[in-house]
Amino acid sequence: MIVLAGPATNGIDEGVARHLSVELVKVNHKVFPDGESYIRIPRKVEGEEVAVIQSTYNPQDKHLVELCLIVEALKDLKAERVIAVVPYLAYSRQDRRFREGEALSSKTILNMIWRSGADALVVVEPHKPEAMNYFRGDVRIVDPSPPIASKLKGMIKEPFVLAPDRGALDRASRLSSLLGSPYNYVEKERNRETGEITIGNVPSDVKGKDVVLIDDIVSTGSTMMKVASASMRAGARSVTAVGIHFLSDQESLKKMGEIGISRIIGTNTVPTSGITVVDVSSEIAKRL
Ligand code: R5P
Repeated sequence: MIVLAGPATNGIDEGVARHLSVELVKVNHKVFPDGESYIRIPRKVEGEEVAVIQSTYNPQDKHLVELCLIVEALKDLKAERVIAVVPYLAYSRQDRRFREGEALSSKTILNMIWRSGADALVVVEPHKPEAMNYFRGDVRIVDPSPPIASKLKGMIKEPFVLAPDRGALDRASRLSSLLGSPYNYVEKERNRETGEITIGNVPSDVKGKDVVLIDDIVSTGSTMMKVASASMRAGARSVTAVGIHFLSDQESLKKMGEIGISRIIGTNTVPTSGITVVDVSSEIAKRL
């Protein structure tokens, strides 16, 4: 197998190639003056199995197009098998039509990757695993919980894992079983027109505990901040916010610190600064 790094890997390519002890090749890439991407595969790939690593963080559209350019080029160059490794898969939250007439973004994106020729797709913690069925090839989901749990074990004493909505309950359950802690969830509702969220009650047994909030994506941080504040009001000793794909800007991070969140943890599926970062490349390598 060859690991082929696209322009958006955030360093995961190096970790994966190192864990697998395989050759790492970097795609030749430049951006034309008008903004279009140029891609060239700098090595013969005929008959090879190629794992292309390309995350789809901001600018999502550009990174998605680059991924499709690379995958199709590899198939044209007769690579035997192409595995698209997309640590953060953009557009995955729009996995159904919440309002009439909406685009089904998740379906369209997965179709694009499939139609470009990817035989398999590897994604770290997708928003909803069942929505991955829109990709018609082999799908492998990477669970980032083990390295996150290892990081947390050295930081907190009495964890209580809390999912900030029912959809994140499985995530909370996986993490809590590694931490040997209780877990639960808080009801969340989002107004689909205004984007505003409201949350239900935090379970009273968080009192005196080190609450660990875990969500797949943190963007504006509103979800985390609402549940963190409610946990503190319910008597939590500390609150740690874990976002697997931490998309927030510095302004949102600052607000999260100001309301009293003690620790903010993300992973290297997307570039971040000012938070604790957990490397998930070993978990990706295990799925290849
Ligand atoms: C939505 O269902 C996701 O799982 C996250 O809860 C959401 O993306 C968080 O967004 P924000 O940080 O803007 O509240």
